Amino acid sequence: MNPHGFLLDPNIVFLNHGSYGACPGEVLEEYRRRQDDLERRPVELLGRRLGGLLAEARAALAGYVGARADDLVFVPNSTSGVNVVARSLGLAAGDEVLTTDEEYGACEAAWEHYGATLVRRPVDDLWSGLSARTRVVFASHVTSETARVLPISTAPATASPASCSTFVSCL
Ligand SMILES: Cc1ncc(COP(=O)(O)O)c(C=O)c1O
Repeated sequence: MNPHGFLLDPNIVFLNHGSYGACPGEVLEEYRRRQDDLERRPVELLGRRLGGLLAEARAALAGYVGARADDLVFVPNSTSGVNVVARSLGLAAGDEVLTTDEEYGACEAAWEHYGATLVRRPVDDLWSGLSARTRVVFASHVTSETARVLPISTAPATASPASCSTFVSCL
């Protein structure tokens, strides 16, 4: 195992964080344990224990991201999450989504599908794209192709117009 806990072959330098991203060994182990649990007693797990397990997971995640557990929902993947948010905002022609030039294509397509215009800026110059038409600032926490961790916690939320939401996609 490499020093970061991934099972990746130490003889390769793996750069594709996104599409074919690897999972840390510890996470994989827990994932497999849960799958085995499900296979052993499917009805008990899905019919009786699932609600409690999801609540437990939401509470743990809430502590990690600094949110209320009741405000969190799980989605199957990032693309679904972006679609849910984009659809719910009632975007109209002329609305802008300010984003970086390192975003994942399927997520960008979701904003356009629901009627917004993407305004792409380099990460270090993101805020130059802010305008009175900006409805959403959209960025990945970790970018797909470059695995760059964006400084999300330092985003100047106060710089945004009141009608603007911030959306961070975490893979
Ligand atoms: C930064 C980022 N966002 C979104 C996605 C899309 O993920 P998914 O196909 O699981 O929705 C990827 C996939 O590689 C990604 O790297």
